[in-house]
Amino acid sequence: MRKQIAAANWKMNLSHHEADSLLDQLLATEHHLSSNQAVIFAVPAIYIPLAVQKLNGKPNIFVAAQNCHQKANGAYTGEIAASMYASVGVHHIILGHSERREFFAESDTLLAEKTEAVLTIGSTPIFCCGEPLEIREAGTQNSFVEAQLKNALFQLSADQIVKVVIAYEPIWAIGSGQTPEPHKINSIHEMIKDVVQSRFSNIGLDSVLYGGSVNSSNAAALFEEDEIDGALVGVASLDGKEFAEIANILNDLT
Ligand code: 13P
Repeated sequence: MRKQIAAANWKMNLSHHEADSLLDQLLATEHHLSSNQAVIFAVPAIYIPLAVQKLNGKPNIFVAAQNCHQKANGAYTGEIAASMYASVGVHHIILGHSERREFFAESDTLLAEKTEAVLTIGSTPIFCCGEPLEIREAGTQNSFVEAQLKNALFQLSADQIVKVVIAYEPIWAIGSGQTPEPHKINSIHEMIKDVVQSRFSNIGLDSVLYGGSVNSSNAAALFEEDEIDGALVGVASLDGKEFAEIANILNDLT
C-alpha cells in the first residue's frame, strides 16, 4: 500500500540545545497523520536518545539514523551497527546518501551489504539514489539510477524489497535551490518502480521519496504527482515552521 512520508535529514547540523528546541517546536505542531503516512527525523546519531525520548509514543512519527555499518558487531572503531540503533528504538536508516557516496567513498557493493544488514534485523532502509549534474546534462540519468538500484538492491529477496523505501535525490538539486519539474521527477519515480517490478515479479514499492531543495513552497506541487510518495528534506528541515508546513501539506492530501 502506498505510504506517504515526510522525512527530515538534519545531516551534521545543530548543537544539542538547538536540536532540543527544534524538536520542541515540531512537537508543538499538530499533525493528523493517517495510518499510511509517516514523519521521520534522521538526526545526528548523538541526538538519537534525545529525539527518541521526545517523540516516543507519537503515532506515525519515527526517529531515523543517517548511516550504519554493514557488520553486526566487531572491531570497527567509531562505527554503529544497525542492531544498536534498533536497540534504542530506531528502525529506519538512511543508506547511500550522495554525501556518503562522495565523501566516504561508499560503493554500490558496500551499500548492498548495508541494505542487507538493515533488513536482516527487521529495520527499514531509506535507500538513496540519484545522478550528478554531468549525467543529467548527458541525458543518461535513467540508466545511471537503474544501475545504482540493480547493483545495490537486486540481490534482495522479494520479502525484503517490499520493506525498502527509496529516495531519489539528484545530486545537482541538493542544497542548490534547483528542483527538476515535478512531472520529470514523477517519470523517474515511475522508472524506479518499473525497474524494481521487473526484477521482483510485480512487487510494488510502497514509497519512493524525492529529495533536493524541497521546501514549503514547492512541496504541494511535488506531492500532487502520483508517483512522488513524499520527500527527504535537508536544509528546510532545520527550520521547525518550514518542516512542519511540509509535513502538513502531506497530511492534507488524504
Ligand atoms: P536539501 O533539501 O538541503 O536540498 O537536501 C536534500 C537532501 O540531501 C536530503 O537528504
